[in-house]
Amino acid sequence: MDPVKNPYVPGAGRKPAALVGRDSSMTGWRIALQRAENGITDQPFVLYGLRGVGKTVLLTQFRHDAEDRDWWVVQIEAGFDRELRELIGEGLYEPLSDISRPSAGRKVFKALRTALSFKASYDANGSWTFGVDLSDTPGGGADSGVLHTDLRKIIKDVGLAAREEGVGLAILIDEAQDLSAEELTTLAAVTQSAAQDNWPVLFALAGLPNLPQILAEAKSYTERFQFNQIERLSRADAHLAIAQPSAAELVTWAEDAVQHLITESGQYPYFIQQFGREAWNVATGSQITLADSRLGVATGQNLLDNGFFRARWDRTTASEKRYLRAMCPEGDAGVGSGEVAARLKKSISSLGPARAQLIHKGLIYAPDHGVVAFTVPGMASFIERQIES
Ligand SMILES: Nc1ncnc2c1ncn2[C@@H]1O[C@H](COP(=O)(O)OP(=O)(O)O)[C@@H](O)[C@H]1O
Ligand SMILES: [Mg+2]
Repeated sequence: MDPVKNPYVPGAGRKPAALVGRDSSMTGWRIALQRAENGITDQPFVLYGLRGVGKTVLLTQFRHDAEDRDWWVVQIEAGFDRELRELIGEGLYEPLSDISRPSAGRKVFKALRTALSFKASYDANGSWTFGVDLSDTPGGGADSGVLHTDLRKIIKDVGLAAREEGVGLAILIDEAQDLSAEELTTLAAVTQSAAQDNWPVLFALAGLPNLPQILAEAKSYTERFQFNQIERLSRADAHLAIAQPSAAELVTWAEDAVQHLITESGQYPYFIQQFGREAWNVATGSQITLADSRLGVATGQNLLDNGFFRARWDRTTASEKRYLRAMCPEGDAGVGSGEVAARLKKSISSLGPARAQLIHKGLIYAPDHGVVAFTVPGMASFIERQIES
């Protein structure tokens, strides 16, 4: 089939032609946007699940929903080497510069002034100009250096400015498991203020399956957050994810071809997109057959092995590889770090650095205390296919 028209899009964060199986999260978010406009601020949304299930895509959909209602949006990706303060500050620059104008209201001016002080709190050399004279404007004070004080101030002032403009502020944070404990605690406290005082500010956090637990440890009242587990698709939704995009191009799938792809993908969205793309490319008629599907899966698996999986594997050192191999017998399920140590005939503490590095590199996470698991579905079987060196 014409590769130019191929509707399948394997790749981190790439919007699928058919975004299926996420209706309840999307409805919940849309309701929350409208409630916030009406003066009631709901608790943060937390999207958690393994890599490749579609968290980033959903978060980006949240962004579009907010933008459709003219909200101001900050969408950021946390990382061990980046500070929340700077990520939020830089993320606010664009929406703030968009609304800056001489005729803006008092609260917008105040928010701009506060934003300047917030910027100064992490960037001694850089400064923003919003093209308006802020010299007589009250505001500022988001540069105390205390994260909670500064973050609360900037989010409050920008939120209230958004209300003055008849909209709200959405803060979307991807890979939130990589925030530091202090940042998570602070963030939780600020979201609590937002809900208590009904600032029109909504938060959504996306991250690995241990994000709820990390949040619980950060602050007790995070239990009221709205937790949405993002899982692999049901077979029925996987069917839609495969059949709908091609139907738009007047291409159909034989039923056994779809069923084969669903099974081989394990119903994981990333793999559905990858296998779907390859099956499309090998098919010649206007229907994708079982033979096409088989070839698509095989080709797709190869591409995943040499890209998606290999990219992660190649980032690890020899001792980290040994650690990962020792995790493999349990497959995608978690395994006790004591058990891993026993298999390697080492002490748990001597393996601490390898374990920490693997978490840092995003390959494994701790679903529970003393347990480790792969962040990517299918990683264990990939490793088992690699010849030991
Ligand atoms: N609901 C869905 N239906 C079909 N495909 C999806 C869905 N969600 C995500 N995808 C696809 O899965 C892949 C991974 O999505 P992504 O959002 O990057 O996952 P995550 O952030 O959880 O690692 C992308 O290729 C995307 O197009
Ligand atoms: Mg993601």
